Amino acid sequence: MNAKNENNVMLSISGLTKKFDGKIVLNEVSMSIEKGRTTVIIGPSGCGKTVLIKHFNVLLRPTKGEVFFKGRRIDDLPESELGEVRTHFGFLFQSGALFDSMSVYENIIFPIRQHHHIKDWKAMDTLVKNKLSMVGLDGYQDYYPASLSGGQKKRVALARAIALNPEIIFYDEPTTGLDPIRSDVINELILKLQRELSVTSVVVTHDMKSAYKIADRIVMLHNGKIIADGNADYIKNHSSPIVQQFIQGQVSEKDLERLRSTTASNDPNLLTNPVDQ
Ligand SMILES: Nc1ncnc2c1ncn2[C@@H]1O[C@H](COP(=O)(O)OP(=O)(O)O)[C@@H](O)[C@H]1O
Ligand SMILES: [Mg+2]
Repeated sequence: MNAKNENNVMLSISGLTKKFDGKIVLNEVSMSIEKGRTTVIIGPSGCGKTVLIKHFNVLLRPTKGEVFFKGRRIDDLPESELGEVRTHFGFLFQSGALFDSMSVYENIIFPIRQHHHIKDWKAMDTLVKNKLSMVGLDGYQDYYPASLSGGQKKRVALARAIALNPEIIFYDEPTTGLDPIRSDVINELILKLQRELSVTSVVVTHDMKSAYKIADRIVMLHNGKIIADGNADYIKNHSSPIVQQFIQGQVSEKDLERLRSTTASNDPNLLTNPVDQ
């Protein structure tokens, strides 16, 4: 199968290996992201989820392998050409930082200013109003980030991520640090944006409740490889103990064995949760 030639494929990576200082993080990973769907990437902390999505938008370059956007190879493009490619992508990063010195309005138009010289400010006012309405925050244009809650900041960051009408939105741990209700607001927004804007979504999360709610497809990474790839039911019923341990957030038999034979004080790894904190 040559995934990169299929019409419904937005993005694909082929044989992607990424090493940092000789240490392999991703090992010959190949996958395609299909148009209009929500692909959720799960896996233990440090397994390479963020590294993987940073390759999709070429914020990192592969050690080996290729990245394609709509059939065009992009991982080897010079930075000067990547700017245009990235206008098709929206990012909601884990740090998700808004610029504290800028108002909500200025934050949202920031990506537009990076690519265009703004002449029609009335059109900008309308655009910001529309984007803020999408996330339920119209009226907050003149607020500064310091006066917003964590959930509201994420929503403003999301409004900023969609400022350039991206075809693909990447979300890195969008619900981390939010309480369950605020997390659910973000989940609903991800679903709403997909429905109303027909965007393609790629979501990294360790939050299985969120994954089951929003995913058309769930991909699990482990030790640099994809070890499970399918819909929520497929993942829930997966036969691999590694997958089951992760999705149920369980402590493994091996950990329990250690727990029985050691005391917490002399084994710092004992209480390590297999799931991200
Ligand atoms: N820029 C970098 N330089 C060196 N090592 C990195 C860099 N970025 C990530 N790593 C390493 O790659 C591994 C995967 O990181 P990451 O993708 O952030 O994990 P996660 O699955 O939690 O998102 C980690 O061991 C991390 O330390
Ligand atoms: Mg990460």
